[in-house]
Amino acid sequence: MATSTTSKRGNWNSKIGFILAAAGSAVGLGNIWRFPTVMAENGGAAFLLLYAALVFIVGFPVMVGELSIGRKSQRNPVGAFRALSESKFFPLVGFWGVMCGVAILSFYVIVAGWTLGYFFEQIFYSAGWFEWAEWVADTDNGWLNAGVAIVFMAATISIILGGVSDGIERAVKYLMPMLIVILVIMIGYVLFQPGAGEGIRAYLIPDFSAINSDLLLAAMGQAFFSLSLGMGALITYGSYLSKKENIPEVAGYVTLADIGIAFMAGLLIMPAIFMAQAQGLTVFNEDGSLFAGAALIFQVLPELFHNMGGIIGLIFGASFFFLLSIAALTSSISLLEVPTAYAIDEHGLKRKTAAILIGSGVTVISIIIAFDTSLIGTIDFIFSDIGLPLGGFMLCIFLGYFWKMGNAKLEMEKGFDTINDHWFFPVWSIFIRFICPILIGIILVTTIINWLS
Ligand code: PHE
Repeated sequence: MATSTTSKRGNWNSKIGFILAAAGSAVGLGNIWRFPTVMAENGGAAFLLLYAALVFIVGFPVMVGELSIGRKSQRNPVGAFRALSESKFFPLVGFWGVMCGVAILSFYVIVAGWTLGYFFEQIFYSAGWFEWAEWVADTDNGWLNAGVAIVFMAATISIILGGVSDGIERAVKYLMPMLIVILVIMIGYVLFQPGAGEGIRAYLIPDFSAINSDLLLAAMGQAFFSLSLGMGALITYGSYLSKKENIPEVAGYVTLADIGIAFMAGLLIMPAIFMAQAQGLTVFNEDGSLFAGAALIFQVLPELFHNMGGIIGLIFGASFFFLLSIAALTSSISLLEVPTAYAIDEHGLKRKTAAILIGSGVTVISIIIAFDTSLIGTIDFIFSDIGLPLGGFMLCIFLGYFWKMGNAKLEMEKGFDTINDHWFFPVWSIFIRFICPILIGIILVTTIINWLS
């Protein structure tokens, strides 16, 4: 259903279109690759609880703030801060967000490219073409890494070129439901396999002794990364949102979708790790710690699928990596949309020129990373674990003390006409002015001190 267009900028055509696009941005490698592995390294369910708490205490309020700023200003993050205050400082915060987007995208397309590579690996393996299977799954091959990243970036650019409703919204309307169906079927299968029970126990029984300041930062970084917060992706997506929509309501759906899918990904991956172990596959490093990140998703799982054998192994293996590629694509779209919207709004570029120029620029960085993938961890730490919470902190300060809560309320009133009698606003405003910045501040300062010492 078409809603009224308030400007010449693109607009989402429907509420569900927006929710799918924002949930598509949120649900990505962060949920299926980053979350289960960060969690497995950090005390399983203890991490899960901490992460869930931070999602609701910090993530959701910040998301409401980003969407309000975006919808009010009808701008990218830099233009949004510029439009809403006289301050010369806050547009720089917006620019930092654009930079975080560029940095995250530069490694994101490589990991996403691996998911494509492994999709083919599963097919080649099943077909008995073992040499090809091995070749396409070699994540140490710089040229291959660069190649798959370029393919993935090209797919991302091609969707961005279509614009907001004809490009992004149309793509996510197919991709998101597909993702959920594949995920549910896979969980259904895995839960009934030998070893699954032990995985579920490891997943759901918390080890509170594992909670420390590193874990807090990891959970905070994960909450921001997973919800796509702190760099203005949701300022940008909010700028395309109709004034008819209730911002806290749609933010609530997006948050629930994201945490729901992260939880489900854990239900798939934790049992899978233990199944793999039950089959004699190595899942632990020599020092007894669990395989992390890339090794877990890209070594243990492919082998598990091979061991399933036959057509079942092929269907599961290929579907899993296809699912990861879809999830990654709906996120990389939003990562590229931020700098693209910035170039369109602030520098008057055409969408086509902006998307191709920026996409190619980021690809150059990706190619450098392709030849030294150890850079991924460093970039991820600086721009995701530190950069995103920092952006979120600044956003709270801006909302609470510069733009002022009253203005935020005026914007939120559109689509939420009972706001004056509702408990939501006073509670949200306490979170934005005090709880969120204090919590983010403490965690960031502790991390930086630990890091320097
Ligand atoms: N939320 C995405 C994921 O979980 C990553 C992302 C981060 C996307 C920041 C946009 C902005 O994979």
